[in-house]
Amino acid sequence: MQRRRLMQALAGLAAGAAGTAQARPAAASDFARAVAGQPLMTPLQGVSDQTGDRFAERLATRGRWPEALSGRFYRNGPALYERGGERYHHWFDGDGMVQQFTLAGGTLSHRGRLVRTSKLAAEQRAGRFLFNTFGTQIEGGPPISGPDSVNTANTNALEHGGRVLALWEGGSAYALSPQDLSTRGPVTWRDDLQGMPFSAHPKIDAAGHLWNIGTAGAAMVVWHIDPAGALAGVQVGPSPYPGGMVHDMAVTGRHLVVPLPPVSLDFGQPTGGGPRRFAMKAGEPLRVLVMEKADITKRRVFELPPQMVFHVGNAHETADGSIVLSFVGAPDAWFLDQGAVALMSGRPLPSGPSRTCVAVLDMAGGKARVETMDDQVEFPRIDPRRIGQSSRWLLSAAAWGAGHRAGLLHGLQLRDMQTGRVRRHDYGDQTIVEEHVMVPKPGRRGELDAWLLGTTFDGRRQATVLNLLDAAHIEDGPIAQATLPYVLPLGFHGNFHPG
Ligand SMILES: [Fe+2]
Repeated sequence: MQRRRLMQALAGLAAGAAGTAQARPAAASDFARAVAGQPLMTPLQGVSDQTGDRFAERLATRGRWPEALSGRFYRNGPALYERGGERYHHWFDGDGMVQQFTLAGGTLSHRGRLVRTSKLAAEQRAGRFLFNTFGTQIEGGPPISGPDSVNTANTNALEHGGRVLALWEGGSAYALSPQDLSTRGPVTWRDDLQGMPFSAHPKIDAAGHLWNIGTAGAAMVVWHIDPAGALAGVQVGPSPYPGGMVHDMAVTGRHLVVPLPPVSLDFGQPTGGGPRRFAMKAGEPLRVLVMEKADITKRRVFELPPQMVFHVGNAHETADGSIVLSFVGAPDAWFLDQGAVALMSGRPLPSGPSRTCVAVLDMAGGKARVETMDDQVEFPRIDPRRIGQSSRWLLSAAAWGAGHRAGLLHGLQLRDMQTGRVRRHDYGDQTIVEEHVMVPKPGRRGELDAWLLGTTFDGRRQATVLNLLDAAHIEDGPIAQATLPYVLPLGFHGNFHPG
């Protein structure tokens, strides 16, 4: 039964990927004209086949990088946006480039490499874009055989089970070497699971078990990977909202918690040749699917007021049997529809609201309530030791005041989820702040016994910078920085791997 469902899901995926209808590519020269005199837009230039491979053996540093902070910090994001004079229309389209910062003995090196997907290899050979992407229609390319033929591996990167996984929402994980980031190829967890989507926001619990989902047509796949990187279990069930965007998920001790925003990504809908538009489906709620890890047929769907969700913070179970889920909610699909397109054209727009939200899901009664905070955030992260358990502090990239009106994230925020108090550091209005992660200090247990590690783009210095802050003193700003000798494209997500 499981195998038949898997095969049906794969067949649906291949059909879905074939009928895209998006905007035509822009001219690369249009972007160059648009960004003249906009120093913050430099990272949106992206990389080429040549500059997509970077290595700096020893980064210039300021402050003191602690010797106890040892390991590899990975990031991933769309990076190659232009080929053959054409430029992608949507930020999510670019080919993925994985960044690896190696921290050892107070010194840092950086390596970045484009993920050698089959899509990238084919387009390098052709010297032009060949395949439709998330938001751009390319004509005259070869037929698309399934999601992996358009997999850009551009959304997240993490090290697990001895390899680096470069992740995308709709296709296979790509495995890379932790030594040099060379691409090993798409991961097949089991022969009959080849090509099944392994989405971009898995959660790894404190014991090293990785849980993930993938959506394939009307089916949802649930993955369980053991700490050594081997498949421990796979289950397939129906999605309660087929065709929607399912981007992130949370875990608790017993459950998987999956927000299903009412945004349809129906690749089969023609749009008359104009730009593809993403919108909320009128009258549809935000669904939250809760499944038991041990048996996903034991499930419940909660309905919350309509809103868009990309990212979750965390989830945990309470003593009275409820599930508390933190996430970032937006009233509409503005970023997907307009914000990400405006960035790619070099004309950023004032951002739509995206706020910290907390939902309480009553597992006994089936009711849900949600509280929305008054802030402007994205990229929520927590203490990695508390994934699936109660956590007090929620870290986000944030905007406020005058910086908010410019439409870019310029600061960091730690929110105390018990008191509602926020603590912040403002990098300044000439800086773009990317996702930061919490890295526990070795041998310490408190949530604020942690460093905050993340990248910024400094518009004044025209440089990508890696920053380290002390979580207990976030207001003081970076205690150490490392400056790259080149500008990296803005990325999405990353993770620190100690060792
Ligand atoms: Fe994401």
